[in-house]
Amino acid sequence: MTGYACVADALAEHGLAVLPGFLDAEETAQLAAVCRARRDGFARAGVGRAAGHAVNAAIRGDDVLWLDEDDVAVQPVLARLAALQDELNRTLYLGLARLECHLAAYPAGTFYKRHLDQHRGEDTRVVTIVLYLNQGWVAEHGGQLRIYTEEGARDVLPVGGTLVTFLSDRFEHEVLPATRERLSLTGWFRRREAGVF
Ligand code: OGA
Ligand code: MN
Repeated sequence: MTGYACVADALAEHGLAVLPGFLDAEETAQLAAVCRARRDGFARAGVGRAAGHAVNAAIRGDDVLWLDEDDVAVQPVLARLAALQDELNRTLYLGLARLECHLAAYPAGTFYKRHLDQHRGEDTRVVTIVLYLNQGWVAEHGGQLRIYTEEGARDVLPVGGTLVTFLSDRFEHEVLPATRERLSLTGWFRRREAGVF
């Protein structure tokens, strides 16, 4: 079974899939280099929507850089994620229309408290994806993604190349603080919005 088919199977069965090695070491290093080269352009991430949107370091402390779909430097990884979107639509009929994504950098010591990715009163974010870009990450560095499932909490280390996907409306999760900067590409496959083509 291909990696994409494994992700689709696990999403169908558990609503959650963790795939180590989605990117190889070279692809991971290349994307991490893009993050570092653009690091000064990252902006503090906010919480809440519209008028309620604000930076709140007590809730989340990451810096993000939103990506355009025609950004040349990230085309290879966006193409892989588009192939995953097609596979999920083909096998699970999720009706995913597009991926919105950003690069994220958590400075050492920062975190993102327990939350759900779907904004209240909105169901356009269907599947969350997190792709880690950290070379040489070990348990002592911390920075786990803690996902709260019916069977209890599941911790995932942000090891470079690992792809985590889960249904956005189903799992509360949090990012634990780390002892070093923690990089990822994080995004959401969105459903087609009414009236938007
Ligand atoms: C998020 C998030 C998880 C991670 O950006 O909403 O929960 O592991 N990220 O970076
Ligand atoms: Mn989240």
